[in-house]
Amino acid sequence: MTQRSVAVLINAVLCLLITSEPGVGQRSQPTPAALPIESQKALINEFCMGCHNDKLKSGGMTLAVLDFAHVDQNAELAEKIVHKLRAGMMPPPGAKRPDTETVKAFVASLETAIDKAAAAHPNPGWRSFQRLSQTEYARSIHDLLNLDVDVGALLPPDSLHDGFDNIAEAQSFSPAVLEGYIRAASKITAEALGDPKATATSVTWSIPHTTNQLRQAPGAPYGTRGGISVTHNFPADGEYVFTVKMQAATNGGLIGRRSPNEQIEISVNGERAALLDISPTMSESRPGGLNLKTARIFVKAGPQRISAAFLPKFSGLVDDLVAPIEYTLADAIGAAQLYQVPHLQDFNVAGPFTVSGVSDTPSRRKVFKCRPVAANEELPCATNIITALARQAYRRPVTQEDLESWQVPLSCSGWNSGPPGSPQVRTIASMTWNWPPACPISFGARLRTMRSSL
Ligand code: HEC
Repeated sequence: MTQRSVAVLINAVLCLLITSEPGVGQRSQPTPAALPIESQKALINEFCMGCHNDKLKSGGMTLAVLDFAHVDQNAELAEKIVHKLRAGMMPPPGAKRPDTETVKAFVASLETAIDKAAAAHPNPGWRSFQRLSQTEYARSIHDLLNLDVDVGALLPPDSLHDGFDNIAEAQSFSPAVLEGYIRAASKITAEALGDPKATATSVTWSIPHTTNQLRQAPGAPYGTRGGISVTHNFPADGEYVFTVKMQAATNGGLIGRRSPNEQIEISVNGERAALLDISPTMSESRPGGLNLKTARIFVKAGPQRISAAFLPKFSGLVDDLVAPIEYTLADAIGAAQLYQVPHLQDFNVAGPFTVSGVSDTPSRRKVFKCRPVAANEELPCATNIITALARQAYRRPVTQEDLESWQVPLSCSGWNSGPPGSPQVRTIASMTWNWPPACPISFGARLRTMRSSL
């Protein structure tokens, strides 16, 4: 079993991790019948048929079609009658009316008849496919893979219906959403397992103007000031370059250039990895702008806390021209040089530039429950891994059918030969980005198959 095969399988599990099981609504208890059928007919004839007959059809409706022995065959009309009579809207004002008690008994008998029929043949109605919301998806990934991902960057935003983002109506499915989930599954799989063939990419975090950078940033080492601290998933053990960009004053120069000997520290899991000197003369108009880069720094694969934070040169209040309590750069708009100390604008990580492997990460420890040493141990081990993941992902025991479909990506059998397998097999197969090259199938074809099988 190669890591790639496991990646394919996990990717497939994640692709199907888009829905949760629905609950089923309940009808209210029926009320006892009260008015005999003959009396019901008599009431309608006396008080309604003058208007709701086949000829006049007042309100576009005739009551001649109603069979009181089987009102359930015309349940919609019966419901309308219940509604109108309960509200006292029929017969219309001015027309002759039955007494209130009779109306109550009539309505009760109609309701009883409809409810009885509904209870005998329950129809919970049609329910749309319900995917997971972003929050649900992120939590599921966390529980499944011990991995925190920024789902917002991978999936289209959730929509709201009546203020809810976690009801079926808001959690519908569109081709764009589907593609988002496919992309997310592929990216999350790679993040969870690491990638010994990872190529360099770059991630940037920006600090809003409204963030106070005079105190220690949450997560940054003690004794530092401002900056930023984040947890980043490094794809492989390798060398990475960290870049910081300082906030510019309105003239393009450095904010806080009057504070001498300022330094910014880059740390990995609280340990200093680089210390960069901030030159007061740096400016957007000079080569390099307001950026400072570290040399290449070795970082291990998996989630690591990285910080870029200033080393304070003095304790006590910053002596600014104006000094309201708890103010931020946002207050500096229109008041150049309000701040006496530098502020960080962007923090960037680029890499890996060289890869030396993939160390054990929390996700890998969670996923790889076994490590096959001989060829005949591969399938049982893969089955073991996928069973555990699927059991947790689907919140139900894994069936034989599930298992058979999971084995497809390992061998490709059943895909190229004969009729396509179960919808599940097709869905997994079609949703799998990293389909083994032995089973060539274009992404377009996968997507079409998937849509038709949903
Ligand atoms: C004087 C004429 C008249 C009488 C008598 C009358 N209706 Fe109506 N009914 C109307 C008219 C006009 C409308 C359409 C306007 C409305 O919906 O209020 C209507 C509408 C309705 C509707 C709604 C139909 C729809 O498709 O939305 C129902 C149900 C109804 N009536 C039931 C009754 C029943 C039951 C009685 C007897 C207890 C009755 N009506 C007696 C004139 C009458």
